[in-house]
Amino acid sequence: MTVMETIRKRYSCRAYKEKPIEKDTLDTILEAARLAPSARNTQDWRFVIVTEDGTKRQVAGCTNRPEVFEKAGVIIVGCSNSDHVMRCGQAIAPIDVAIALEHICLQATELGLGTCWIGAFDSEKARRILSIPDEIIIVELMAIGYPADTKPEPKRESIDKIVCYEKWAF
Ligand SMILES: Cc1cc2nc3c(=O)[nH]c(=O)nc-3n(C[C@H](O)[C@H](O)[C@H](O)COP(=O)(O)O)c2cc1C
Repeated sequence: MTVMETIRKRYSCRAYKEKPIEKDTLDTILEAARLAPSARNTQDWRFVIVTEDGTKRQVAGCTNRPEVFEKAGVIIVGCSNSDHVMRCGQAIAPIDVAIALEHICLQATELGLGTCWIGAFDSEKARRILSIPDEIIIVELMAIGYPADTKPEPKRESIDKIVCYEKWAF
C-alpha cells in the first residue's frame, strides 16, 4: 500500500470490535512513532499504552465518547516531557507528539486497524488515573482497534481554498 493509499484509507473510527491488538502489530505501530521527526531530535514524546480493560474503561471515561473508545484495543496517551518553545514561538510538545501520533495512525491504518484522535478529554482526570507527573504535558489521546464501522465520505475543502503560491492570496 502506498502512503497515499494509506492516507485515503484513514478515517476517524468511532465503532470498534472488542478484539485485542496482537503484540507484534502494536510493536510495529509504536516503531512508527519512534522513527518520527522531532524538533532538534529531542524525542520528547512519551506514550502510555493502555490495554487493560479496567484502565481503558477509566481512560475512555475521560473522553466525550466513553462507550466507543472503551471498546478500542488500545488507547494511546501521547505526552511530552518538554516545555521548550522554538524561535518561531511555537511549543514543541504538541507538534512533536502530533507528528508521532500521526505516524502511529497511518501505520495502524496500513495494518487494517481503525484509529481516532481524541482531543475532547479531561486531561487532569487522565493524569490521576495513569499517575502521570504534573510536569508532563498530556497532548492527545488516540484510540486504535479493529473497526466495526466503515469509512464515511470525507468532507474536505478544495485545494484552491487552502493553498496559494508565492504570497498570501486568500
Ligand atoms: C487534534 C484532533 C482532535 C480530535 N478530537 C476528537 C475527539 O475528541 N473525538 C472524536 O470523536 N474525534 C476527534 N477528532 C477527529 C476529527 O473530528 C476528524 O478527524 C475530522 O472530523 C475529520 O474526519 P476524518 O478523521 O474521518 O477524516 C480529532 C481530530 C484531531 C486531528
